[in-house]
Amino acid sequence: MDGLPHWHFSKTASRRCSGGLSATLLTAILSLTSLHAGAQAILEGERFHPVTAQHGMVATSHTLATKVALDVLENGGNAIDAAVTAGFALAVTQPRSGNIGGGGFMLIAPGDGGEPEAIDYREMAPAGASEAMFQDEDGNVVKNRSRFTHLAAGVPGTVAGLALALERHGTISLRQALAPAIRLAKDGFTVPQRFTAGLEQARERLTRWPATRATFYKEDGSAWQPGELFRQPDLAQTLQRIADNGVKGFYEGETARLIAEEMERHDGLITLEDLKNYTPRVRKPVHGNYRGYDIYSMSPPSSGGTHIVQILNILEGYPIQESGHNSAKTIHLMAEAMKLAYADRAEYLGDTDYVDVPLEGLTSKAYAKQLRADIDPANARPASDIRAGQPAPYESNETTHFSVVDQWGNAVSNTYTINFSYGSGITVEGAGFLLNNEMDDFSAKPGVPNAYGLIGGEANKVEPGKRMLSSMSPTIVRKDGRNVLVTGSPGGSRIITTTLQVIMNVIDHGMNIQTAVSAPRVHHQWLPDEIRIEQGVSPDTIRLLEDLGHTVVTNSAMGAIQSIMVGEDGTLYGGADPRRSTSSAMGF
Ligand code: DON
Repeated sequence: MDGLPHWHFSKTASRRCSGGLSATLLTAILSLTSLHAGAQAILEGERFHPVTAQHGMVATSHTLATKVALDVLENGGNAIDAAVTAGFALAVTQPRSGNIGGGGFMLIAPGDGGEPEAIDYREMAPAGASEAMFQDEDGNVVKNRSRFTHLAAGVPGTVAGLALALERHGTISLRQALAPAIRLAKDGFTVPQRFTAGLEQARERLTRWPATRATFYKEDGSAWQPGELFRQPDLAQTLQRIADNGVKGFYEGETARLIAEEMERHDGLITLEDLKNYTPRVRKPVHGNYRGYDIYSMSPPSSGGTHIVQILNILEGYPIQESGHNSAKTIHLMAEAMKLAYADRAEYLGDTDYVDVPLEGLTSKAYAKQLRADIDPANARPASDIRAGQPAPYESNETTHFSVVDQWGNAVSNTYTINFSYGSGITVEGAGFLLNNEMDDFSAKPGVPNAYGLIGGEANKVEPGKRMLSSMSPTIVRKDGRNVLVTGSPGGSRIITTTLQVIMNVIDHGMNIQTAVSAPRVHHQWLPDEIRIEQGVSPDTIRLLEDLGHTVVTNSAMGAIQSIMVGEDGTLYGGADPRRSTSSAMGF
């Protein structure tokens, strides 16, 4: 398995509480005002106070998933047990992004300071995929083919990835990890307002598919309403087959047959053979250092870790603390660094099982110094001076992140997705789950942007068995070998900059974790050549940025980052993102 040491998470792993936090971080922690002692959920509007606990903490985007994962911790399970339980529960309670029909990445950092590892369960292109499959006879990209057809789906990796995590580091069985999800699917759960709103918004796209309509809408075609009980009997059976037969209960047998038949009926590519051949991989995370903190984040086939480290390396050369949070000067420097990183992403990043990626170069301090020399503190550099491309508009999308820390200090940071909200919109008939549309993350043609406006080239072209490039960035920050920050986010191309800002908000700006998560965010991705900001950045700052030559656009919320911080005395601080109303952090 990629030659990584096989270390164990034991329930007796000791939690290291030595090692000092920086003065800023310490001040931030000391200035926290906790709401109550013990377990509690973040309520909407509770934007600035973290949840505190002593023994374990879970932050996810759905309260029911947070709760079942917390139960695992309270019963003596470790962070991996809880994370896998949350992963399956979200597949039931949050079908727009929680999934078994997609893929993702899990970063695991042991509490005893042992080497962190990453589990890559990204979807793979089916064997029948080919470079020009999303182009017409004239070589033009047929946009919706990679988004809303059966060709859009990569071979799902979630079941294999979660099972591998449990097998390597868990202490409970797959059956135990699946039990709450099966119960929630079979007995149902009470629909929150956000669930109804999502289905109403996506109605047109989803109800085109009879199985999706039958699974997620009532017989009269209306969406399930807040307060009603929503059951998913087909999904319950699919999950039960995994509980009974392990990963073979998904990649072989009845479920595999249902997926393959779904594909055959609609000219899709995924075959029984593709499903049988799916393999999750254990990877070495990208490792960087920022102002004395060790940053561990996701390696290829995600671009996330590489560019978080690259941008932090560039920004380390500036007194960011002095220029202050969301000041024009800080945003300018961030935007210039982001542009350079996203231009490199387009050129170099892809699945390292297929292409060589100059990872060491991209994440080196020397390269960052070289790039810094190109940044003008008084002028925005036009994106066209950096590289040319044809930007596409942003789309509304959904992925989900969760973070867990257990009583031994073990940390898990997991981001997984089916790409768009509800993925391809296609439900596997009889199996009750949605298929991803992750093939859109490949570059359909060099220079043609994907749904997030991201440009790619040769390194990210479609090839059979290859993993499409991702931006997902599950991240764990350590200080002197101790896990101090666990974070990550959805948000497509904005995942990298969202995660980056939570790291900077904590390390540079001394914010407590809830404030760091809630604070308004900014984003630049080279193309389109604009700084995207959330509401909350002052008009005066926007004017100053425009004076420097930036185009600034205010747009909807970016990301939904679920984070945990660990204080020097071992106190756990949870910060759930109020941008998703169902988000919650709970501890014990
Ligand atoms: O892997 C990626 O980078 C994208 N497929 C993630 C999509 C996403 O975050 C959508 N969410 N908000």
